[in-house]
Amino acid sequence: MSEKIETLLKGKPELSEERCREAMDFAVKQVKENLKEFTNDFKKAYSEDGFYKPTPNVNWTTGFWTGQIWLAYEWNKDEPLKEAGLIQAKSFLDRIENKVEVDHHDMGFLYSTSCVAAYKLVGDETGKEAAIKAADQLITRFQPVGEFIQAWGPMNQPENYRFIIDCLLNLPLLYWATDETGDRKYRDIAEKHIHTAISNVIREDYSTWHTFFMNMETGAPDHGSTCQGYRDGSAWARGQAWGIYGCAMAYRYTKRPEYMEDFKHVTGYFLEHLPSDLVPYWDLEFGEGSGEPRDSSSASIAACGMLEMAKYLDKEDAAYYTSIAGKIMESVVENYSVKDLKESNGLVLHSTYSKKSPYNTCTPEGVDECNIWGDYFYMEALTRLSTDWNPYW
Ligand code: GLY
Repeated sequence: MSEKIETLLKGKPELSEERCREAMDFAVKQVKENLKEFTNDFKKAYSEDGFYKPTPNVNWTTGFWTGQIWLAYEWNKDEPLKEAGLIQAKSFLDRIENKVEVDHHDMGFLYSTSCVAAYKLVGDETGKEAAIKAADQLITRFQPVGEFIQAWGPMNQPENYRFIIDCLLNLPLLYWATDETGDRKYRDIAEKHIHTAISNVIREDYSTWHTFFMNMETGAPDHGSTCQGYRDGSAWARGQAWGIYGCAMAYRYTKRPEYMEDFKHVTGYFLEHLPSDLVPYWDLEFGEGSGEPRDSSSASIAACGMLEMAKYLDKEDAAYYTSIAGKIMESVVENYSVKDLKESNGLVLHSTYSKKSPYNTCTPEGVDECNIWGDYFYMEALTRLSTDWNPYW
């Protein structure tokens, strides 16, 4: 551990078992309260002044709301939660059958947390059918020249010939599809993408590129760039967090030792760039006094990645990363979580979806608000800290 990380972590409390359970009880109460408005509809990607509005099942983020319903169901086995989860799984089957906004790579974010969860938890065959169809959709975006899954936009155009670091979390869906169908094609594509992605998105100093272009003619690596980070050479906080969890998932499914080393390096960079309350600013370039907004969702995503990786590390390293995850989540609970149902209909404040800078290409939205994956990974981290959780991923 570097001196900087040691100083940062020194004396910080870990989330106690009791506080973890209280936080999860509150989150589950909030989810149940929200079912009235959000069972046939979904929550939008981010809140506005602390409150989510309803949306039909159309964007890349709706699975995170269904995932919260399933995590809440696992917590207390309340039937209304199960019924709502199943209604939403059916909506996901309709969505994939009618190809509603599925021409992008986020099939894992959408279908692991909703339909794979429904199948794993209650044996829902609708969920299974939908998730296999989603895996079939995802592999249509595989580019053999360069061996990667193309993130966005029409296929086979140089300006869209790229993958993004976030996609590492879409790949567990493919491993699951191979396990369920016995067809290796899903896993083979996942493995190729993981190799291409991890070989190219991690820079020499272990910061990461958000997006990476490949040469369309030769398949050779071309160049990295950002979309949602501050600038090309900076480290977008959530990209780094996707990298932490992505390396843990890569190791979970391949058991290749280099991914364990990559996990340690990428996590080290993230920790080195945290402010004193362990919740990053939206880009790791920014620190205390910058006046920039935080991205609390990155803290919970990184904690989930550390808790996943702890399952495979030796005892000492596992204890180290579990302890850090506990410290991060203590701060998220204490300083960022919603404490009063009247304050917000979400769970975690101060996330940033996309902040415009003079150097990036994103559409500004959801700055310093709750966002739906921030809420989901908060519940996942609390569940991981308090139970022996079987991931939906
Ligand atoms: N995967 C898109 C994002 O993290 O905003």
